[in-house]
Amino acid sequence: MTNDFHARIEEWKNFLFIYKFALDEINTKLTILNDEFQFVHHHNPIEHVKSRIKSPESIMDKLQRKGLEVTTENVKDHINDIAGVRVTCSFTTDIYKIYEMIKSQDDIRLIDVKDYVENPKPNGYKSLHLIVEIPVFLSKGPEYMRVEIQIRTIAMDFWASLEHKIYYKFEGEIPEKLSNELKEAADIVHYLDAKMIRIKDEVNEFKELEKEPSNLL
Ligand code: GTP
Ligand code: MG
Repeated sequence: MTNDFHARIEEWKNFLFIYKFALDEINTKLTILNDEFQFVHHHNPIEHVKSRIKSPESIMDKLQRKGLEVTTENVKDHINDIAGVRVTCSFTTDIYKIYEMIKSQDDIRLIDVKDYVENPKPNGYKSLHLIVEIPVFLSKGPEYMRVEIQIRTIAMDFWASLEHKIYYKFEGEIPEKLSNELKEAADIVHYLDAKMIRIKDEVNEFKELEKEPSNLL
């Protein structure tokens, strides 16, 4: 019994450890893409990147919610967000630049795309979600690991983190007045993101006229 228990703990530790390598791979890739883009286009599409591994407690909760037994096989087959990366950028157009860059990497397999930027959720949530598989090169050979990538603007991220806190505070039952206000805030986020792009374009046009060599935005 005790041996079996310890063996299972070891199995889970090793299993989750490999997701950490997947995050390392994705982070390196994003850093290189961002630096290269900066070098070529004089513009950083990425503001910052945050990553996390789902906690064992949340993994168990999620499996139970889905009515699945707690096994590493079920995690591999049914949970896509053990490794999660959140990429924040300045402009909505950057979201799609980052998406295109990720898509054109031939070692990355694109498994699923949910475009909540084009089609926001009814509560106003916006973000581009990708599920990808990335190879991790282990001593026994390469293993493809799933990673959820969420790409959003700073304004969308601000909204989502507040909504997330409110959602948890009210255990999913947000009072109507607050959800209406959040919806209103989401419209303002939309307006702000569109306005920022217009200003950026105006600045770039101005720079063209001035014949400045670099496109600073
Ligand atoms: P899970 O919710 O993870 O089981 O998967 P799903 O198939 O519903 O995926 P979806 O792409 O809709 O959401 C995945 C993740 O996006 C969530 O775990 C959150 O981190 C984030 N997300 C989705 N919807 C919302 C939302 O309404 N508000 C906030 N703040 N975050 C959201
Ligand atoms: Mg969900």
